[in-house]
Amino acid sequence: MEKPKFKTVQEVVAAGEGLPERYLHAPTGDGEVQPLNAAVPEMDIPAIDLNLLLSSSEAGQQELSKLHSALSTWGVVQVMNHGITKAFLDKIYKLTKEFFALPTEEKQKCAREIDSIQGYGNDMILWDDQVLDWIDRLYITTYPEDQRQLNFWPEVPLGFRETLHEYTMKQRIVIEQFFKAMARSLELEENSFLDMYGESATLDTRFNMYPPCPSPDKVIGVKPHADGSAITLLLPDKDVGGLQFQKDGKWYKAPIVPDTILINVGDQMEIMSNGIYKSPVHRVVTNREKERISVATFCIPGADKEIQPVNELVSEARPRLYKTVKKYVELYFKYYQQGRRPIEAALI
Ligand code: OGA
Ligand code: NI
Repeated sequence: MEKPKFKTVQEVVAAGEGLPERYLHAPTGDGEVQPLNAAVPEMDIPAIDLNLLLSSSEAGQQELSKLHSALSTWGVVQVMNHGITKAFLDKIYKLTKEFFALPTEEKQKCAREIDSIQGYGNDMILWDDQVLDWIDRLYITTYPEDQRQLNFWPEVPLGFRETLHEYTMKQRIVIEQFFKAMARSLELEENSFLDMYGESATLDTRFNMYPPCPSPDKVIGVKPHADGSAITLLLPDKDVGGLQFQKDGKWYKAPIVPDTILINVGDQMEIMSNGIYKSPVHRVVTNREKERISVATFCIPGADKEIQPVNELVSEARPRLYKTVKKYVELYFKYYQQGRRPIEAALI
């Protein structure tokens, strides 16, 4: 079993040999003068009450139109009243922090192998001149259960495996409800997206750790990208910001609203909604003093599923924008590391 030879960011920091060149972004030369950590305004996305979205009351209808408005402009919402308790979310944050604080040898037990996405370490390095992101991560497929590879599931800290299993099951409920709400917000039959997304959809959870960075002006935590998922559920750090979304070419920082789940549209939902719901470009900037953690879960249609705009959202006034795609995520990773938008490949 071959393991990648690149150091994690935590190891680079511990080695104390300064900042390797491979993390430095050169100025683009096209008039970009802003340092990466320049101050940006906060985005005004609404907090959406998931419980209310499910209700057929007047208030429920209003919540659906709030959802419609946010997803068609920003492509992202903060979801509250999602049914997962604060105590449980706190447990996930705590276990994530504890995992990354373990000695390297312990974390290496879950190390990813060359050519595999799953496991602990850095992201795959696909090109010689790829600028590296200032992030270490643990990436685990959590669903369907028969596809789990337990060798990547940490045995320490104690309770990690059980909690991740429990979180997966809780998320499945939120995901189903959210898909139904998205369909209803577009006046579709509530299973329209779920039927295409499929019963056998994959859930991949990515635990992210951004160590403090000595050059936040020149180093990025995660390069600008849109997610290749249908949707993504994110638990952002409760204390340390860094996540930013792009709208009309400008960057905005995501507000920190404790105990909400941030849900963003991914490319495959943009395709299913025929472009009405936007898969937003986002990035993470680094922080000089503080480490930041986050937990992202990508909801990915099964490899056998054909993803395309649902018929009811295609009309003469709104022609079909995207081809039918299958196994979109494979195509996605190649484009991402080159800084290109994979959804362009799906445009008609
Ligand atoms: C991602 C991502 C954001 C964050 O993992 O795709 O965008 O806040 N993460 O860590
Ligand atoms: Ni993302």
